Amino acid sequence: MASTLRPATTPRIRPALDDDVPALIAIDTVARTDTGRRRQIEHWVGQAECLVADRGGTILGYAVIDYSFFERRFLAMLMVAEAARRQRVGRTLAKAAVAASGEQVLWTSCNVSNHPVQALFAAEGFFECGRIEGLDPGDPELIWRYEPGKLLSSGRTM
Ligand SMILES: CC(C)(COP(=O)(O)OP(=O)(O)OC[C@H]1O[C@@H](n2cnc3c(N)ncnc32)[C@H](O)[C@@H]1OP(=O)(O)O)[C@@H](O)C(=O)NCCC(=O)NCCS
Repeated sequence: MASTLRPATTPRIRPALDDDVPALIAIDTVARTDTGRRRQIEHWVGQAECLVADRGGTILGYAVIDYSFFERRFLAMLMVAEAARRQRVGRTLAKAAVAASGEQVLWTSCNVSNHPVQALFAAEGFFECGRIEGLDPGDPELIWRYEPGKLLSSGRTM
């Protein structure tokens, strides 16, 4: 699959379909060994807003928006196939999640140790706004939010 990737082409973002589940499991580095994540992917595709990045029929990544964080709109997962990383796929999915949220605040989180996604969130206009200790030992969870009005009033562009 990796040999067919064309880095210059922006993937199409579309809702996930039931038929995409095997491809999502295949690109998800956790799902390969974790049956819980596999069940979660099936749940997300069926119950949540799950967007996939599709380039010519190849799934390069996915994003999940649900309300699992204090019933707030929450970017619960952003995952890009290892072979497709650093090609702006994650950024394209994050932009699509923001766009799908309209005027609503979009929350998300990541581990302190996850520097790539922190750089991505900051570049896409998310603001770090809190930290939760004790979920993953030695690796606190950082909370971020995207506020459409705040971004517009700051004059920054997407
Ligand atoms: C985090 C992740 C989604 C990024 O996806 P990606 O498609 O590689 O990211 P992009 O190419 O769109 O990069 C966007 C920006 O993020 C930052 N970034 C992404 N990967 C990075 C890395 N390895 N190191 C440093 N910065 C990085 C950069 O600022 C980058 O912009 P640039 O390429 O102009 O410098 C991907 O690495 C991934 O799937 N990781 C595993 C799952 C995960 O940790 N998800 C987040 C928690 S839910």
